Amino acid sequence: MEKRLLVYIGILSISFILLLSCEHDLPNASEIPEVCFGSEVLPIFQTGCGISNCHDAVSAKDGFIYTNYASIMQTIVPGSPDESKAYQSIISLFDHPMPPNEPLSLEARTLIRIWIEQGAEKTTCPDDTTTIIASYPCFEREVLPILLSSCATTNCHDAITHEGDYIFSSYTSLMESGKLVVPYSGSTSKLVKVLTGNAEDIMPPPPQDPLTADQIAIITDWIDNGAINEVCETLCDTTIFTYSEAISDLIVNNCKGCHSGSSPSGGVSLTTYDQVKLIADDGRLLETIKALNGRPLMPPSGSLSNCQIRQLEKWIEAGSLNN
Ligand code: HEC
Repeated sequence: MEKRLLVYIGILSISFILLLSCEHDLPNASEIPEVCFGSEVLPIFQTGCGISNCHDAVSAKDGFIYTNYASIMQTIVPGSPDESKAYQSIISLFDHPMPPNEPLSLEARTLIRIWIEQGAEKTTCPDDTTTIIASYPCFEREVLPILLSSCATTNCHDAITHEGDYIFSSYTSLMESGKLVVPYSGSTSKLVKVLTGNAEDIMPPPPQDPLTADQIAIITDWIDNGAINEVCETLCDTTIFTYSEAISDLIVNNCKGCHSGSSPSGGVSLTTYDQVKLIADDGRLLETIKALNGRPLMPPSGSLSNCQIRQLEKWIEAGSLNN
């Protein structure tokens, strides 16, 4: 999907340049690969607009619902983004933008625009049905967050410190970091060896907690399957937000690396339910993941996905239970 997006954005930029230079020869939206409503557009509306207290079927703020094709089409004029109220509200970035306080990304806005220009059909892509959720872990979704929160930390393997010349903050830097990863062979990869090493040379070093067995298994499995840099379909589902099914893993994989051990970052430890509950209750959990009220953005390497933020919000709204 990322490659397709680059193509869309590329074509849009060219259109823009052409628009500036002359008024003719604009590429026609029909020449751009078809945007899929089902896998590309609907999730943006569902997670950005059709959420509780906003435009879900129950709240239907201002009479608008954005949860399925029929409801979305109430404010779309096929072929004309300019006349489509839904599109106008997501691009009016300075005047009542939607979603409030959290504009959609440029990519998301671009996709919606192209989809409308292409006729706003209820398209599903041929590969929608064949999107096999790979049976092995995917780098961006599962491996990188672990590396970012447990290894690419300040004073360790981030781009500035690059302790031992290892940088773990991106696929390229990881793979260039001197043969740490031997594709298809987790057991001989130095990365796995240090994670499972004995007390003196185990990584992350004490006082940080070692990675969990699950996390080590994810990394090993990813290497055993070729250590490929894949952009993956998100498995995140905003309808799943219990502590056991969603929140616990989210915190372990995105926060715990820095917020554990004997001197956790910011003095905040996030290794048990009670500790997570504490920052959920005092508001700091939401404030940090959304960088509100002057709080530092967490995780510092970049925001969680909208879907993950939504899961945390829903879990908190439901009472942040240990469920
Ligand atoms: C790469 C390391 C790292 C990761 C990963 C990380 N944090 Fe932090 N966190 C820090 C540091 C460093 C501070 C202290 C920064 C400061 O106060 O400016 C901090 C501070 C905090 C604070 C206290 C903020 C305050 O103003 O009192 C909270 C709450 C927090 N983090 C939550 C989280 C959550 C939730 C996650 C995961 C979604 C997370 N952090 C992921 C490094 C990290």
